Amino acid sequence: MKVLVTGGAGYIGSHTVLCLLEAGHEVIVLDNLANSSAESLRRVHELTGKKAQFVELDLLDAPSVDELFASSEFDSVIHFAGLKAVGESVVEPLRYYQNNVVGTLNLLASMNNHGVRTLVFSSSATVYGATEEVPMVEKMPLDATNPYGRTKEQIEDILSDLGAADPSWRIALLRYFNPVGAHESGRIGEDPTGVPNNLLPFVAQVAVGRREKVMVFGNDYPTHDGTGIRDYIHVMDLAAGHLAALDYLPSHQGVYRWNLGSGKGSSVLEVIQAFGEAAGKPVPFEFAPRRPGDTAVSYADPSAALADLGWSVHRSLSQMCEDHWRWQVNNPSGYGS
Ligand code: UD1
Repeated sequence: MKVLVTGGAGYIGSHTVLCLLEAGHEVIVLDNLANSSAESLRRVHELTGKKAQFVELDLLDAPSVDELFASSEFDSVIHFAGLKAVGESVVEPLRYYQNNVVGTLNLLASMNNHGVRTLVFSSSATVYGATEEVPMVEKMPLDATNPYGRTKEQIEDILSDLGAADPSWRIALLRYFNPVGAHESGRIGEDPTGVPNNLLPFVAQVAVGRREKVMVFGNDYPTHDGTGIRDYIHVMDLAAGHLAALDYLPSHQGVYRWNLGSGKGSSVLEVIQAFGEAAGKPVPFEFAPRRPGDTAVSYADPSAALADLGWSVHRSLSQMCEDHWRWQVNNPSGYGS
């Protein structure tokens, strides 16, 4: 298949590009490099011996996006490109709606104009909002609680309307839980700019000595150790979920929603402990107040993805930490090392 991957130079994108190339697909990456590095794709080439074509382009540049579709015959699109920092989205909502929603509308218009109607979209468990009901099941009502999450929810709505209006579309909405880890080579991984917002990259930077200690946001949650519980998923398992969805769509019209998670929750303290074991040294931490907007517990019911796609996770929390650590220690400053 000839696959366009928007945001393919980013964290989840680059791991998925690697898997696509290994599976024999032809890959074209569109990325504006706003929050990613072309070095990731150079390393994917080094790892696979295969090259994805790279087009540096912003989805907000609608005429150029349309030209790309006019000059290439894509079979399908995997759409990762988007801004993803929750806190930043609260401060700059217009930039988030413009970039994520308008960028997606431009992409969809070009897909529609050029008869490319197979799409895998990078959604998030964040669309479930602050519900205390676990595990999360695809049919639960959506209720995102911040602008970033609402861009994901709005794009899901747009895609649902599109699928209802024109049944020739084949759309997979993949709701990721908490992606962590890195390719086992330690050559590609997550390279957050500035202070990481998410737990694993922060813990990794503490372990490598870039930061002093982890602040554990809340130890008074109604959980077994008082800290928040999340469903961590290895980025290579997540990448495999995209290939499974891409294999499913050619024989299935319509819009499909799948949770991509392990179905198992781990607490912040369990993650810090597992990371310390992987790194061979304890990771210093301190308890701090709860982070506004956080819920106590979130984990997936991943049974729909198993039933429909035959997909499930294969990698444990220890493996996530070991692979994340290998990437961190070999690339202490990310791709800038
Ligand atoms: C966050 C986002 C979510 C996004 C997801 C992407 C918020 C409120 N939610 O989810 O929208 O889809 O990342 O992966 O930002 N923690 C600490 N110390 C830290 C960082 C995190 O204790 O320095 C705790 C959090 O309170 C939480 C857990 O670790 O219990 C995981 O946090 P994080 O990695 O930020 O993910 P989410 O909060 O699940």
